[in-house]
Amino acid sequence: MLKKFLTAATSAVLIGSLAACGSSSPDVASDNKGADDGITMGFAQVGAESGWRTANTKSIQEAAKESGIELKFSDAQQKQENQIKALRSYIQQKVDVIAFSPVVETGWDAVLQEAKRAGIPVILTDRAVDAEDETLYESFIGSDFVLEGKKAGDWLVQEVGSEETNVVELQGTTGAAPAIDRKEGFESAISGASNIKVIASQTGDFTRSGGKEVMEAFLKSHPDIDVVYAHNDDMALGAIEAIEAAGKKPGEDIKIISVDAVKDGMQALADGKINYIVECSPLLGPQLMDLAKKVVAGEEVPKRVLTEETVFTQAEAKEALPTREY
Ligand code: AHR
Repeated sequence: MLKKFLTAATSAVLIGSLAACGSSSPDVASDNKGADDGITMGFAQVGAESGWRTANTKSIQEAAKESGIELKFSDAQQKQENQIKALRSYIQQKVDVIAFSPVVETGWDAVLQEAKRAGIPVILTDRAVDAEDETLYESFIGSDFVLEGKKAGDWLVQEVGSEETNVVELQGTTGAAPAIDRKEGFESAISGASNIKVIASQTGDFTRSGGKEVMEAFLKSHPDIDVVYAHNDDMALGAIEAIEAAGKKPGEDIKIISVDAVKDGMQALADGKINYIVECSPLLGPQLMDLAKKVVAGEEVPKRVLTEETVFTQAEAKEALPTREY
């Protein structure tokens, strides 16, 4: 009930702001003009909050170019209202297919209904939406975030054995699928280990500065931190800065587990400052373009396309770094 009310209220406000904006929204840029197979995709990206996101954007832009799809790209700067505005702009422009990575899980029903009414198929990339009506999108391509959190928790359980362990958690963006799911997966993995306690948990918004700021506060209020569980590498890297500034050794005095495995994270892992990273692949572009072509051609596509991922120890990071793509 509350969800429905919020959706209606949000949509009313945004219809107003779209009308004020007109159809050529300034934050919607067009790439790959002159593509010859006639497919135009409108892609609404979350933002540029992390190394992962930058690699994801590059993968999508390059794959669009390679597959001859004209890409209209927008950066929502981590704001749902900007993403909804971009989606409405793509609907007005009558693109052939819309793809987006929803900044948060809820609040999409109204705009997805509008796309459906306009006959424009939608593909979710990287993050899911919490919509009861699954016909509002054609397919969802991305990682299993619950599994990622579980892998992080499983490693910790193995690593500490029966030792009393205080964990602080740096959560991703509040309401975002990876933040919700990575928390859930981690909690389920450590639920049988009564010696492992999460003593503080707060959002660092998936950014390096957010991770640093929250870790500084954690270090002041909790002198007894053994482990940081960061929902992404950028926040882990921010936490490393805070730990070093507090005169402690990341990776030794305080262990760090993270998710993503972007280059900077892998370097910190190889340097011994992070202890374990669960991979989350941002290279979704080629598969997204294949799906888009099929969807536009009216072919059936799988509702869920899962990304293949691995995990890295410090030794494995040293080996993988020289050929790491992102
Ligand atoms: O949705 C994927 C997550 O979003 C990545 O783990 C994080 O780095 C990004 O900002």
